[in-house]
Amino acid sequence: MSRALLLLGLVSSLATLSVVHADASFDEILEQIPYYESAKELWERFPQEIMYLSVIFLILVTHWVGKRHNEVLAKTTMAVMLPLFRNNFARVGDNGAELAIDAPHEYIIYLTGRQHVSTVHGLIKMRPRQDLIRTLLTLFSGTIQDTCTLNVTMNANEYSDGVFAVVPKDTGTAIRNKYYDLNTYTKASNQRALDSSLITLTESNELTEAILPLVSEHINKAAKWLDYFIVSDQPMFKPEEAPTEPFAKRISLSFRMPDHRHAREIIPLVEALIACLDGLPQKCHVMTLTKTKFAKAREEEMKDLNKKTLAEKARALEEKRVREKREQEKNLSPEAQRKLAAKEEKRSIKKRQKMVSSKK
Ligand SMILES: *[C@@H]1O[C@H](CO)[C@@H](O)[C@H](O)[C@H]1NC(C)=O
Repeated sequence: MSRALLLLGLVSSLATLSVVHADASFDEILEQIPYYESAKELWERFPQEIMYLSVIFLILVTHWVGKRHNEVLAKTTMAVMLPLFRNNFARVGDNGAELAIDAPHEYIIYLTGRQHVSTVHGLIKMRPRQDLIRTLLTLFSGTIQDTCTLNVTMNANEYSDGVFAVVPKDTGTAIRNKYYDLNTYTKASNQRALDSSLITLTESNELTEAILPLVSEHINKAAKWLDYFIVSDQPMFKPEEAPTEPFAKRISLSFRMPDHRHAREIIPLVEALIACLDGLPQKCHVMTLTKTKFAKAREEEMKDLNKKTLAEKARALEEKRVREKREQEKNLSPEAQRKLAAKEEKRSIKKRQKMVSSKK
């Protein structure tokens, strides 16, 4: 019964349709539905539309696949570091998340709650794989790599000042030129304790002797991933002006990240960092003479900064004076402005004459 009703309904709606298309036979309707024999035919008919759709499709797929790739890489890298972090810090992460996402290719690490340490800020920065355009742009330059940076801010006054770094031999000069503290205070030197691909940049032998034994074995095991390992009491980038209080003491580690199947290879580098947390306060105390030498070097540098600051201030003042003068001139009456212009003109003519006569 109900089936019969359904059939009736179907027939009647078909009938309605045929009434609507009264002027078209069934065959004609069929002909209106586009049907293409091959992809080639379709391509010839809608080349632009197909191109647009393909590009959109490619962007979406890249976004999805790239984001996923970066997520796996970041999480795997964090996972291999996590046991070390957990063993050493009371607090790993913020708001319940061990790893905070900042962008599909940037993840933030935050650690705190440990003796001798104030905080650790870390950043996992990967290639922007989720972004088709940027990926294509960087394909040719090939400069962006997956890197992880950990900045440890140490408590003040628990070990000697000084700047010391372990860097790869082939990029060492570039790194030294890039960072203010390394550039200002250190010299490069070869070390037998280090892998042959690495060198130290150090402010004094005494510093090297105190810090290198803490880290050399660890770093050697993962030498190929190291970008830099820096112990410093000075900022990485030149400050604008001399500070009123000492700079924060820090340890900075940066390394390139292997793909997620080999993520464990970077563990020794993090171990080197951890070894310094207790190691520096215990072992890094230079002799008074060296301490004085360091202090003097910093004083000189700060004097230089101060001088620059003063010069900068004088220039700003002069600029302000000129600007104010111009502003005043603008507010004069047209008559007064003309007079002023005439006066300036006369002055410049005189000046020129003087120059000409002095040349003779
Ligand atoms: C580490 O410190 C340097 C210099 O102070 C800074 O430029 C960089 O952004 C820091 N990185 C992180 C992950 O906090």
